[in-house]
Amino acid sequence: MAEVVIVKDAAAAGALVAEEIVRLVRADPEVVLGLATGSTPLPVYEALRPRLDGVDVSRVRGFALDEYVGIDPAHPESYRSVITREVVEPLGLDPARIRTPDGSPDGIEHHGDDYEAAIRAAGGIHLQILGIGTDGHIGFNEPGSSFASLTRVKTLTERTRLDNARFFDAIDDVPRHCITQGLGTILRARHLVLLAFGEGKADAVAGAVEGPLSASLPGSAIQLHPHATVVVDEAAASRLEHADYYRYTFENKPEWQGL
Ligand code: PGA
Repeated sequence: MAEVVIVKDAAAAGALVAEEIVRLVRADPEVVLGLATGSTPLPVYEALRPRLDGVDVSRVRGFALDEYVGIDPAHPESYRSVITREVVEPLGLDPARIRTPDGSPDGIEHHGDDYEAAIRAAGGIHLQILGIGTDGHIGFNEPGSSFASLTRVKTLTERTRLDNARFFDAIDDVPRHCITQGLGTILRARHLVLLAFGEGKADAVAGAVEGPLSASLPGSAIQLHPHATVVVDEAAASRLEHADYYRYTFENKPEWQGL
């Protein structure tokens, strides 16, 4: 199962995950990172900034999880713009090496396959950062997504559209479709790091970590992965039945195991 690390707050989670990413970049300057958007991964990107000072990031490669379909890439809420603003620019990455799925409607039926091919050509993703939606989605794999799914177009649930409406002027501006890495794509990454903060994520986290494997809760797919780490604050951990065991395990973790 996933390793669950319960930390005191989002900043502590950010520091923990950033340390691991820095270790990867130092070990392999061409490391391939799986990047996530949303508010959850922001503490990781913030913690990375000072830690990457003086580290050569010019060859780091990255793949975003998802993109809205039909949004102008220049729109401030396209995931291309978000990744550029929150990750590429602050960390000084090479924009040409950081990809997001192509959400332009023209030829959309091929964009998923193209993205899969690009990930394969890069040698696969080393560390995939994940958030989780209140409905249990990872990437934009909404409930019902196949565990074998690859990058493709999905229809967003109304709940996700409402959750994301805060980024737009009006709910009607939130796109109805997205193109997202599939659960099968995500499961191919070598290390999954799922983060969640706050009471609102507690049910989704409990379902993903301890619930039955179910396409109805796409985050539960992480249980199939041999190296998945779930980093949560106390509030997001509050419905985990075995929270005390996870704390005990992490406190007694052998140093050599790393994250
Ligand atoms: P959030 O979104 O980080 O903005 O809460 C998570 C997600 O939808 O995956």
